Amino acid sequence: AVEQGVRVVESDPNNTSVGLGGLPDREGIVTLDACIMNANGDCGAVCMLENIENPISVARKVMEETPHVMLAGEGAFNFAIQQGFKATKLLTDSSKAAWEKWLEEAKYKPIINVENHDTIGMLAIDDNGEMAGACTTSGLAYKMHGRVGDSPIIGAGLFIDSDVGGAVATGLGESIIKVVGSHAVVELMRSGVKPAEACRQVILRVIKKQEWENIQIGLLAMDKEGNVGGYSIYPGFNYALANKKSNQLIDTKSYKKTWAN
Ligand code: GLY
Repeated sequence: AVEQGVRVVESDPNNTSVGLGGLPDREGIVTLDACIMNANGDCGAVCMLENIENPISVARKVMEETPHVMLAGEGAFNFAIQQGFKATKLLTDSSKAAWEKWLEEAKYKPIINVENHDTIGMLAIDDNGEMAGACTTSGLAYKMHGRVGDSPIIGAGLFIDSDVGGAVATGLGESIIKVVGSHAVVELMRSGVKPAEACRQVILRVIKKQEWENIQIGLLAMDKEGNVGGYSIYPGFNYALANKKSNQLIDTKSYKKTWAN
């Protein structure tokens, strides 16, 4: 379910931070990162993957068909082709035009999508309490070629422990990696902290030790009972909650109430 869910966003050419149509790196190359994890603790990931529309499905194949957890770059691409995936040009006309506009000044600083976030993460739980999660992104727009963020890193972009719950992260990957964000949220839930509060406490760790102004991070968590919560540094981070009763878009609380510092 989580693979199928995030594939929809990966294949949407109008989403500029995931999969097809994702904004490229400084060299104009689209490189994708993704990971997937299930209730047994099995996981798979790809990073620096080029020319494959659905990296999450390659990550699942890494989990199921190899003895490894992560494949990178050319090795990940060659593996995908061996598994029957088709090579696809990911740079769309509009993402190419945006990159060419960026090249006019070529200023490099992390560009965070302040309207929402930059990565799709998904958590699911079934009637037996079995959980799974997925996380996928094209990473920071105009990043250095070779840069990998949090999204394919188990523990940073995604972590599931079916005894406790799961978490996914979005936002500036460097900041999330430094606190091993998703794993930190799950470990707080293990000690009895509720999902939204666990996300808040990890955001506070970032605030305490890192340069955080004008940087967005959003964390989303679900415990093994299916309780869900999230928290972000700045407003604008929301998540879709679907269950048998309803389908809602929910705004999380944030550390700052506006984008003004
Ligand atoms: N969270 C996505 C990235 O930083 O690449």
